[in-house]
Amino acid sequence: MKLIITKNYEELSRAAAEEFAKVINKNPNAVLGLATGGSPVGMYKELIKMYQNNEVDFSKVTTINLDEYVGLNPEHEQSYRYFMNENLFKHVNIDIQKTFVPNGLAEDLEKECSEYDKKIQELGGVDIQLLGVGNNGHIAFNEPDDELSVGTNVITLTQDTIEANARFFENIEDVPRKAVSMGLGGIMKAKKIVLIASGESKAEAIKGLFSGKISTDNPASMLQMHRDVIVIVDKEAAKLIEK
Ligand code: F6R
Repeated sequence: MKLIITKNYEELSRAAAEEFAKVINKNPNAVLGLATGGSPVGMYKELIKMYQNNEVDFSKVTTINLDEYVGLNPEHEQSYRYFMNENLFKHVNIDIQKTFVPNGLAEDLEKECSEYDKKIQELGGVDIQLLGVGNNGHIAFNEPDDELSVGTNVITLTQDTIEANARFFENIEDVPRKAVSMGLGGIMKAKKIVLIASGESKAEAIKGLFSGKISTDNPASMLQMHRDVIVIVDKEAAKLIEK
């Protein structure tokens, strides 16, 4: 795993955006695996700037997102579809028909999960996958548990995650309790992975990423088995890594 420790969030965002721009410029038809939440907002801003400066062209890319809350419609301000439209898609020349986010309103969620996996396969897998990480080590919404799913699955969020995500909602009661999330298999099959984390609350999870041990208690620790991972963290998130 390659580790980049940056001075601050801006530098982290720029470094992550550059990794994505490199892949797109090499392969304009690239499949981008995307994430939501607080961490990628700066990186998406950088990509928009690069697009405006003609440094990157999204016209041929396809995107596939990691997850979506169950029960939120795409127009809901906290749905991940809405987040992607607002934070990236509507600012660049992407073909919206080629952007995929799980449907959290699907009547048959199990079917939605298997179709999402089929979609990933049809696309030929993900060329570059962006990941944030939960304070508890979750990646996508794969929460620490005795067993982790390989395929896309419906996940019950832990209290930890509900509390962490409550900052985006008016009340903690409004945070959906379930999400559809790509599984560990889908993530690990990506050709390249870029994980970003900022702030001290992520330090423990990042420590687990460099522990030399794999544990389902820290799903992110699984990434140690992948051959091409770049971890980009600020000084605070890197605090517990021994160098
Ligand atoms: C979001 C996702 C989550 C977040 C994680 C960190 O699509 O998959 O795993 O990356 O919860 O969230 P932030 O960036 O808000 O700290």
